[in-house]
Amino acid sequence: MYDLLVSPFRIRGLTLPNRIVMPPMVTFLAGDDGLVTQAHRDHYEQSAGPGLMVVEGTAVLPEGRIDRRQLGIYSDGHVEGLSELAGIIHSAGAVAGIQIHHAGATAFAEARGPKTYRRIPPTLVRLLLQQFATSRLVRIRDAFKDAGRRAAAAGFDIIELHAAHGYLFSQLLSPLKNRRLDRYGGSIENRSRFLFEVFQAVQEEVGDRALVTARIGVVDGQKGGLTLSDGLSVALRLQEEGAPLLSISCGSGIPGWVRPEGSPYSPRLHLAARAKSVLQVPVIGGGGVRRPELAEQALRDGMSDLVYVGQAMLADPGWARKVIEGQEDMIVACRGCGRCFWFEDYRKCPSRPDAVDGRNSRAWHTRTTLEFR
Ligand SMILES: Cc1cc2nc3c(=O)[nH]c(=O)nc-3n(C[C@H](O)[C@H](O)[C@H](O)COP(=O)(O)O)c2cc1C
Ligand code: SF4
Repeated sequence: MYDLLVSPFRIRGLTLPNRIVMPPMVTFLAGDDGLVTQAHRDHYEQSAGPGLMVVEGTAVLPEGRIDRRQLGIYSDGHVEGLSELAGIIHSAGAVAGIQIHHAGATAFAEARGPKTYRRIPPTLVRLLLQQFATSRLVRIRDAFKDAGRRAAAAGFDIIELHAAHGYLFSQLLSPLKNRRLDRYGGSIENRSRFLFEVFQAVQEEVGDRALVTARIGVVDGQKGGLTLSDGLSVALRLQEEGAPLLSISCGSGIPGWVRPEGSPYSPRLHLAARAKSVLQVPVIGGGGVRRPELAEQALRDGMSDLVYVGQAMLADPGWARKVIEGQEDMIVACRGCGRCFWFEDYRKCPSRPDAVDGRNSRAWHTRTTLEFR
């Protein structure tokens, strides 16, 4: 029934047993030291099934984290735990990817208080980004390079730079946030310069031990932000530089016009389709895919080559397995909470059988969601 979705896919020397992707999703299951915990091992073990599993946004520097419990790859001491995760993914028959991340101007700073994901206005991002001295950017580039080496040593097949969702590279790509007057600001060539410097540095470091790619936010939802044509030109250049596939998403927000009226697909999936129409390399797309019927239809309609399933897999880690085994009726649905509780404490996810008692009521949801904002 889901013939295309469950059929294998080849990327360079790698074979994905199916076209379902577990996208990178931070879990905040690490300790302050950024090390892999038993909870991580359980999480990736339970999520087995997708042909490609991309380990969550993993910090290349402690000061680039979004939360003190974010997984890290900033020391050689992180390699052992990460190699266990790569091993778990390989044992499930999947290709193992890892996303490496720096939050740039929106990085967690203790001075800003303990709450993660505080909304930082573009004006402040702009100011903070301007203060990133060239020497600091060099340090960050080297940290990505080291992270690439460690990821390859840990056994990951694919290393993905996080260049979406309003973090460092996405901030630099945005003309709204990037008002630098040096060679990293101004034209799209300048705004993407750092991304390419890092991309090339990681490629050189890793050689043929892993494929280096990026998750690229090709447009911003904010007025004055990255335009789709500039975003697609960056995706094209990543392809030219050797990216073997590209994961397509948005930068800060996503404009409504991307999605034609009446379309069954999310705006993010439409962005993937736009990218696919100009790229030759395979495209990973998704967003809002909760049911396998939609994923299959998206592949048949040529929206993307691989489909990622995010929150639906957090709500039911057996999602892919059930689809493959023809037990899709057993999928526990994601409830589409206002703000996904996995950003805060996965135990509050109401779709999980082990959800913290009394916390799956609508009243509780509304209250905590508002408080959290
Ligand atoms: C809890 C949570 C954590 C996420 N963490 C990351 C991340 O580390 N890196 C990333 O690129 N996207 C991250 N995302 C975005 C997802 O990868 C995905 O693109 C998004 O949830 C939309 O897909 P969905 O509708 O299938 O959930 C996260 C999303 C959620 C809900
Ligand atoms: S917390 Fe809510 S939105 Fe997030 S995965 Fe669980 S059910 Fe879905």
